[in-house]
Amino acid sequence: MGTDGDVREPMPEHLFTVDATSAEQVRAMLAILDVQESSPAVRRLRDLTLDALSPGPGDVAVDVGSGSGTETRRLASLVGERGQAIGVEPNPGLRAEAERRCREELSVARFVAGEALALPLDDGSVDVLRCERVLQHLADPERAVAEFARVLAPGGRVGVIDSDWGSAILRPEADPETMSSYRAAALSRISNPHSGRDLASQLRGAGLMVDADVGSAAIVLQGEAVLRAGFITENARLGVDRGLLSQAQADDLLGSIRAAAESGEAFFAITMFAVIGRRRE
Ligand SMILES: C[S@@+](CC[C@H](N)C(=O)[O-])C[C@H]1O[C@@H](n2cnc3c(N)ncnc32)[C@H](O)[C@@H]1O
Repeated sequence: MGTDGDVREPMPEHLFTVDATSAEQVRAMLAILDVQESSPAVRRLRDLTLDALSPGPGDVAVDVGSGSGTETRRLASLVGERGQAIGVEPNPGLRAEAERRCREELSVARFVAGEALALPLDDGSVDVLRCERVLQHLADPERAVAEFARVLAPGGRVGVIDSDWGSAILRPEADPETMSSYRAAALSRISNPHSGRDLASQLRGAGLMVDADVGSAAIVLQGEAVLRAGFITENARLGVDRGLLSQAQADDLLGSIRAAAESGEAFFAITMFAVIGRRRE
């Protein structure tokens, strides 16, 4: 997989809610997470965040909403046996798979039940905390960020990564009225769709110092990948169900994207941002 355009599936983020716990939903989420993390854009932002957080031997490092646990295992390899790498994850199916992958890799990471709004961690007990593509699912992300600040030790670092669905680009577009209704339907599926633009302000609001350099990377899909996982079709269907789009508008939009997908001319992109905050010594 050489370029962002090679990513095979898009990001149907609406799946990742705390009540998506059936075996089928967990399998679907894991398949999406595995494809997403093979994206160069995701890997770039993860590397940039890890560099800035610089977890070291003996540190307590936490991954909030750890999913399949890849980055928690990476933290474990850096904090070593003297440190702790803890994935906090509310979904029992994802936790079980993360634990299985840990055993396979002989990683010392561990996973605990818990959630961003009430972290099962003591005040001032964490040296490094990361949270990737979780805040967009929360109706009250500021409360989660306040939790991050609460658990950070003096001098502790936090890295938040999230998408901003307002940055989504689609080619081809339909007429402005259809696109505005389509976008309204797409945004309504995510609790906090503009998360990416709010991260720095939320960290500052929680009393943290924020690094000036904000990382960004776009997930890019081209050609048939644009339609493959179905989120554009699903957004259009939702638009019709909610009376935002007529069936004819939805059919026209999907028809033109289908034609462009077949000829390789369709294009979708969404930008993710990575922001680093620090607690004063
Ligand atoms: C898109 S996935 C990202 C997983 C992982 N951070 C990654 O980047 O691969 C969203 C994750 O957030 C978790 N999640 C959803 N609601 C949460 C909450 N209230 N607190 C903590 N995690 C939550 C989901 O179970 C899922 O693991």
